[in-house]
Amino acid sequence: MAPKLGWADWASAWLHITAETLLQRVYTYHLPHKLSLPVLTGSTCIITGATSGIGLETAKQLAEAGAHVVLACRNINAAQTLVHEWKNQREQDSAPLNVEVMELNLLSLSSVRAFAAAWEARKEPLHVLINNAGIFSMSAPQKFSEDELEEHMQVNYVAPALLTLLLLPSLSRGSPARVVNVNSDMQWFGVLDPDDLNLTCGKRKYSSVAAYSGSKLAQIYFSSLLECKLRSGSGIHVICVNPGIVKTNVIRTLPKVVQAIYNFIGCFSLSSLEGARSVLFCATDPQVVQYADALKAKGWPVCSYYSSICKPNDTSKHAQNMNLALRLWEKTAEIIGLSTEDIEKLLPIC
Ligand SMILES: NC(=O)c1ccc[n+]([C@@H]2O[C@H](COP(=O)([O-])OP(=O)(O)OC[C@H]3O[C@@H](n4cnc5c(N)ncnc54)[C@H](OP(=O)(O)O)[C@@H]3O)[C@@H](O)[C@H]2O)c1
Repeated sequence: MAPKLGWADWASAWLHITAETLLQRVYTYHLPHKLSLPVLTGSTCIITGATSGIGLETAKQLAEAGAHVVLACRNINAAQTLVHEWKNQREQDSAPLNVEVMELNLLSLSSVRAFAAAWEARKEPLHVLINNAGIFSMSAPQKFSEDELEEHMQVNYVAPALLTLLLLPSLSRGSPARVVNVNSDMQWFGVLDPDDLNLTCGKRKYSSVAAYSGSKLAQIYFSSLLECKLRSGSGIHVICVNPGIVKTNVIRTLPKVVQAIYNFIGCFSLSSLEGARSVLFCATDPQVVQYADALKAKGWPVCSYYSSICKPNDTSKHAQNMNLALRLWEKTAEIIGLSTEDIEKLLPIC
């Protein structure tokens, strides 16, 4: 039986989101507008969805700090235009940016497999994978991918999960390495039935909020189990992060009037630059690894979850349901066509 949100869960979810919306500017007041990063020369980072919003700012700053950055995007032309702009903006006496574009459409699991195969063929180390790309198709009708998955579930959860598993050998070569999953406090509203990921069985009605929050909750379950399976000696950590409420293109599917209202209340929202802070923090700060190691040492089953103020935060109570996490893991393996043995082979030997 799939869990439901009780009234206490609803109340805490609403409290959480309302406080975040109204107070995030206060909470993040002490942070610099732009996070200062360590020198990242010699590090390789793959980031999905870098053509817009939080992903764009994150990718740009990683590249400016010297990292080799791979923009994994479905809109190759837009990504190449961006890289061209960034290179042109670079001052003449500074080191050239090391950025490249590779095609990845998360709405297609075969595109994910093709991307991973092309990357793995290079046999290069990967130090940071940022699963940033995401959709929240507010007020749009329910849609399905070519893999017959509900689109939020596919783009926000299933495809990044497959990508992460397939890139484990590269992450192992890059160890110490991190997987940063850009999550959302909407996970507080998440309810998940592994036997009805598409929300089509009639037990729960489809809404974009149910689909989005469910996909973000699924990502926490998957990240927690993967973090458990990656033994301490692997040097790889999986971290989820909430960037805050950020003014980006995520509202593109809303009616124009609603977009105008959203922009009007934009004074409460963070800019993409500010939204990128917690993602960059999770991708680069040594404290993040120390915290993840400490959680592992005390046997806490849920992965690290960071807030927009770059501090560890609580997940919802539902995100701590490890029986459900296990059922989801098994269902996911079935969907992406990987057996337990296939996954064991991808996990680093330590
Ligand atoms: N904005 C917020 O308030 C907020 C709050 C919490 C969490 N988040 C999370 O932050 C992440 C970034 O969102 P954002 O606000 O920066 O949104 P955004 O401006 O809409 O950017 C989303 C990025 O994802 C890419 N993408 C979408 N579908 C894709 C697909 N099928 N294959 C490959 N790439 C795809 C988009 O590429 P195209 O340009 O090709 O569509 C775009 O580059 C998401 O995971 C979102 O859930 C955002």
